Amino acid sequence: MNKIDIINQVIQERRSTYPAQFSDIPVKNEIILQMLQNANTAPNHAKTQPWRFVVFTGEGLKKLADFQSEFYKKNTAEDKFNQNTYEKLQENPLKASHIIAIGMKRQETGKIPEIEEVEAVACAVQNMYLTAQAYEIGAYWGSGGVTYNEKAKDFFGLGNDDKLLGFFYVGNIAKESPISIKKPLEDVVKWVTE
Ligand SMILES: Cc1cc2nc3c(=O)[nH]c(=O)nc-3n(C[C@H](O)[C@H](O)[C@H](O)COP(=O)(O)O)c2cc1C
Repeated sequence: MNKIDIINQVIQERRSTYPAQFSDIPVKNEIILQMLQNANTAPNHAKTQPWRFVVFTGEGLKKLADFQSEFYKKNTAEDKFNQNTYEKLQENPLKASHIIAIGMKRQETGKIPEIEEVEAVACAVQNMYLTAQAYEIGAYWGSGGVTYNEKAKDFFGLGNDDKLLGFFYVGNIAKESPISIKKPLEDVVKWVTE
């Protein structure tokens, strides 16, 4: 296959695979490293490379599970507390082989609009998605749990002006996802030709 066929196939076949679909066979660290190396080549304005990643695996997954479930307990009013949510925050990370916390480090001068730093991080995450797809590894970007909570950022080494953008869950696939149906191109593209 030539490069064009390969990239078209990898992009077209990419899909999210969720923790419940992961097997308990761990993903090799070398594959995770390749995903991170590919993330680190993403386009970014003014060479800020605003992505910051924290990789949790092995006992590290339990650390993340404990942090996010206890954070939820501590920061949720008693009448709003949901035991099911608490248990999910405790159990979900343990279904993954690796979880990569996705952070955006804000440029110190603030010259680049913040949205562009977030966009660059999303490009980096797409590179991880595509690398996972090429290795036939399951992955998904989740933005639940503590993601947008200001008080959670410190745990991931992020400062006041930075953002936590979610978690990239990675695992070997036990149960495949179907390719998700997208709107047709005509609905999302307009050509201007004259
Ligand atoms: C920024 C971002 C945040 C997401 N957060 C969640 C999430 O919290 N929970 C979830 O189930 N899926 C989440 N997803 C994954 C989407 O559900 C998934 O990409 C969408 O269903 C399309 O499926 P596909 O990735 O297989 O094409 C997120 C995706 C993106 C890009």
